[in-house]
Amino acid sequence: MTTDRVATVFAPPVAVAWSPEGRAVRIIDQRRLPEEYVERDLRTVDDVCEAIATLAVRGAPAIGVAGALGLAAAMAAHTVLSPRDFAARLEADADRIRRTRPTAVNLAWAVDRLLRVARRAGGNAEAVAALRTEAEAILNEDRDMCRRIGEHALPLIPDGARVLTHCNAGALATAGIGTALAPLYLCAELGRGIEVFVGETRPLLQGSRLTAWELTRAGIPVTVLTDGMSAALMRAGRIDCCIVGADRIAANGDVANKIGTYSVAVAARHHDIPMYVAAPTSTFDPRMPTGEDIIIEQRGRDEVTRGPLGVTAPSAAHVYNPAFDVTPAALVTAIISDRGVHRAPYDFSAMGDMAAAR
Ligand code: MRU
Repeated sequence: MTTDRVATVFAPPVAVAWSPEGRAVRIIDQRRLPEEYVERDLRTVDDVCEAIATLAVRGAPAIGVAGALGLAAAMAAHTVLSPRDFAARLEADADRIRRTRPTAVNLAWAVDRLLRVARRAGGNAEAVAALRTEAEAILNEDRDMCRRIGEHALPLIPDGARVLTHCNAGALATAGIGTALAPLYLCAELGRGIEVFVGETRPLLQGSRLTAWELTRAGIPVTVLTDGMSAALMRAGRIDCCIVGADRIAANGDVANKIGTYSVAVAARHHDIPMYVAAPTSTFDPRMPTGEDIIIEQRGRDEVTRGPLGVTAPSAAHVYNPAFDVTPAALVTAIISDRGVHRAPYDFSAMGDMAAAR
């Protein structure tokens, strides 16, 4: 089966890449979607950290790529520093980028790959060149991994399937055609008549703003639900399978992903519906034994208490706003990576460090 036509017939949005002159990171400002399509160039570490922290660029693979490209681009302006100051600046900037969002392992993974090659370089100019080459490798690998995830997951999605996803694990969350959405793009391209349902994904609405935007743009039928509606839809027999992305996958197969994923998984198990997770090698963290150890990013109260209706909660109310939850491995039917379809009992030991293997 060939899937090569997808790139020619349907051009997915490019969430993160070099700017045309190659000195900045070009992103789509995802805070403005779906109403406005605006690209932004990130030139400094401040720009990169702000864009990642405010979700202008978001999704585990995309923030890894943006962090890597951004660090490489920013360090090119510092070759005049003494080697010692250059090294100190690199470590400090890498650390700042790494800390912007703690849950997705892809960000630390990408930044650490850059640090490793720069530490081996003979001088500033050599380090800048090595940073650029490594960042570009991360970008290209991400595109390839998305496509391979799509190809491995394709046989799991029946013709005409009604598929539930959550948040956005599509092109906007990666440098390629996405992870959870990759097989759906391939299904659509092959004329397999799928239909997608997506939870709006409170509080920042990545499902309704972003997934629905990129799927409708590709001509794939999509229905937006509020997050509380998915279990009722399953009970009504209107979902054939669920597929979501991941921010970090622990050694035992526990999956951290957007808040609300766990509820989808619980409801899917109750209704005997397959629950798939799709993620590139860069999202696996075999050094983390279980999901219990994953740091969950907590975000501000305003994301929850302000919405399209204005103020949506009294100021005296406490707010609980974790950006992610952990779905226990037992609720996951299979994990699809760029290396194949993984089922319990999992052994991810070979997925530790792609950089070391190269
Ligand atoms: O807070 P976000 O929008 O960065 O959260 C994104 C998700 O949870 C995605 O499902 C995950 O990063 C996988 S993206 C391929």
